[in-house]
Amino acid sequence: STPTIAVIGGDGIGPEVTREAVKALTAVAGGDAFSFVDYDLGAERWKRTGEVMPDSVLAELDGADAILFGAVGAAPGDTTMPSGILERGLILRIRFAFDHYVNLRPSRLYSGVPTPLASSVTDRGEIDFVVVREGTEGLYCGNGGVVRTGTVHEIATEVSVNTAFGVERVVRDAFERATRRRNKVTLVHKHNVLVNAGRLWSRVFDEVAADYPQVQTDYLHVDAATIFLATDPARFDVVVTDNLFGDILTDLAAAVTGGIGLAASGNVNPARTHPSMFEPVHGSAPDIAGQQKADPTAAILSAALLLEHLGRQAEAARVTEAVTADIESRTAAPRTTTEIGDAIATRIAGA
Ligand code: NAI
Ligand code: MG
Repeated sequence: STPTIAVIGGDGIGPEVTREAVKALTAVAGGDAFSFVDYDLGAERWKRTGEVMPDSVLAELDGADAILFGAVGAAPGDTTMPSGILERGLILRIRFAFDHYVNLRPSRLYSGVPTPLASSVTDRGEIDFVVVREGTEGLYCGNGGVVRTGTVHEIATEVSVNTAFGVERVVRDAFERATRRRNKVTLVHKHNVLVNAGRLWSRVFDEVAADYPQVQTDYLHVDAATIFLATDPARFDVVVTDNLFGDILTDLAAAVTGGIGLAASGNVNPARTHPSMFEPVHGSAPDIAGQQKADPTAAILSAALLLEHLGRQAEAARVTEAVTADIESRTAAPRTTTEIGDAIATRIAGA
């Protein structure tokens, strides 16, 4: 039967870029290949109805084959929204409910894309790596609280959760991916200071590595990893790390490989017990919303990750090739969101 793709455009540029991603999926697979179902969620929905994520909507999403997500978030000056309610109530709710334990963030420096890296860095080799960020544990669990609120003795805790089960499955996923790439996995942590979680990550990493003798392994403390991301990113193939380190590293990775307009991601449940969700790394960009200034490329590359996850490798490759060709043909002349989306869809259809 026709696979169902739930589409959550969200707020700001979210719906603008998601529309172009749907266009690319239609161009590559044909108009009837997918059944797209739109969901109205995000800051605007909350303002209208007070609802972030009704249980019935979460249950419906669970029935989809995959989710295409734009971005959610109100403008920065908007003080009506309590901080974190969309993150915790919507994005993290979906990640946790659907067990998205692999947060996949590929980074590639396309030829012709401006990068802040020095030419001595870009000359070191091809920059093409993927960060496998743990998505369901770490500091994101909401495991903490506040006591003595409002006093000078106020204590706020945020306790990082690391389970042997959770670490093992994400590390194994990283090694599996490496065997389909260049056979190298780098563990990033901070085990010299975060000794408890660090010991667990290191031990599990070594145990899993023993099952993959063909895969070369490396370890970096997270602070050193930021240095190498800026001075020698060609050294990385697959990077595996925890939830918060992965969040921070991948913004840096996006910055050095051409910016947030190109950075795609997948919130993946490799066991396929629930639908996976694919989204650009960027947010709702209220500063450029409604002006057709957003680059839809990150959303379109996220759609390619979605195709790959659904086992449609050939179609995923056609989308990625069209994006690569589009990027290589870019000039200084600005294009609207729709123009970029149309140009990529035309290349896909012509391929
Ligand atoms: P942002 O990613 O929305 O914007 C940062 C800067 O990058 C802005 O100057 C923006 O114009 C630019 N930018 C972002 N995407 C772009 C694109 N496709 N093409 C061209 N330029 C682009 O991050 P910011 O400003 O921190 O957050 C804005 C809102 O988005 C907030 O409400 C935040 O909570 C939310 N957000 C949501 C995310 C999600 O839904 N997963 C992720 C990150 C932020
Ligand atoms: Mg982030």
